[in-house]
Amino acid sequence: MGYKLGLIGYPVQHSLSPFIHQKFMENTGIQGSYQLFATEPNQLEKRVNELKRAGISGFNVTVPHKQAVMSYLDEVDTDAYRIGAVNTVVNDKGRLKGYNTDGSGYLRSLAEAYPDVLRQEKKALILGAGGAARGIYRALAKHGIQRIGIANRTKSKAEGLLDLQDLHTETEILSYSEAESSLDNYDLIVQTTSVGMSPEYDEQVISLNKVKPHTVVSDIVYKPLTTKLLRQAGDLGARTHQGHTMLLYQAQYAFEIWTGTHPQMESLVEQLEQRLRG
Ligand code: ATR
Repeated sequence: MGYKLGLIGYPVQHSLSPFIHQKFMENTGIQGSYQLFATEPNQLEKRVNELKRAGISGFNVTVPHKQAVMSYLDEVDTDAYRIGAVNTVVNDKGRLKGYNTDGSGYLRSLAEAYPDVLRQEKKALILGAGGAARGIYRALAKHGIQRIGIANRTKSKAEGLLDLQDLHTETEILSYSEAESSLDNYDLIVQTTSVGMSPEYDEQVISLNKVKPHTVVSDIVYKPLTTKLLRQAGDLGARTHQGHTMLLYQAQYAFEIWTGTHPQMESLVEQLEQRLRG
């Protein structure tokens, strides 16, 4: 029968997680299933208890439950607690423990693609201050990046990220226009907002005109695979890092937490790209 895994969220029907975890099972030889559990907000507690009773091995959590689910778990890992969001839950002999693999998955995907940009003296700029930004900020700070800028439309929300930092990382809060005019200070730019997600709008939070060549520009948006921001980055000689790799590596982390096994990525990156291109 194997591992019983799945995803709680609303809506979940377009999730790529079943595809990814199915591939992980195939490439590790681990037996199991990964099911989608569409769960409206007022059904969350019931759903978590049902899954626990049914002996689920573990599950992912997505929008809109990443914060709320914490109330129904027996334990929350320190990073997830500080970030304020759980995306992965493991059932350890009837005790549910929550983790956040988004930030650590992002870091791993970046380390695979551009390890040089993770040296401590490098300077990173995070665009946005939502849940994804919190995870990425904590992961970069824990890694030891010494200077990070955070730019967000709502300044107070960006200031909220400073609570994540007993980490000795020098952090500066900026407006988007301040970020835009100081872009040549940064070696890594990470776009974490939902802007750019819709090809019809084709928007971006800032223009990259002042980006330095070789700067790495990441966009965590993966649909479209190449956002307008990444197209501009490429045109200006920057190095680009697409969002689907974060999706894959956060899933790899989750799979490791559940099964203790490390799935290989090589062919999967391409397969996911094909799927996203439709
Ligand atoms: P997630 O958990 O995916 O990061 P979130 O917590 O809802 O999502 O955060 C969304 C982020 O996208 C925030 O930084 C938000 O900016 P505000 O804090 O100012 O709301 C940003 N965002 C969403 N729509 C935006 C828009 N049209 N222009 C600029 N920023 C936007």
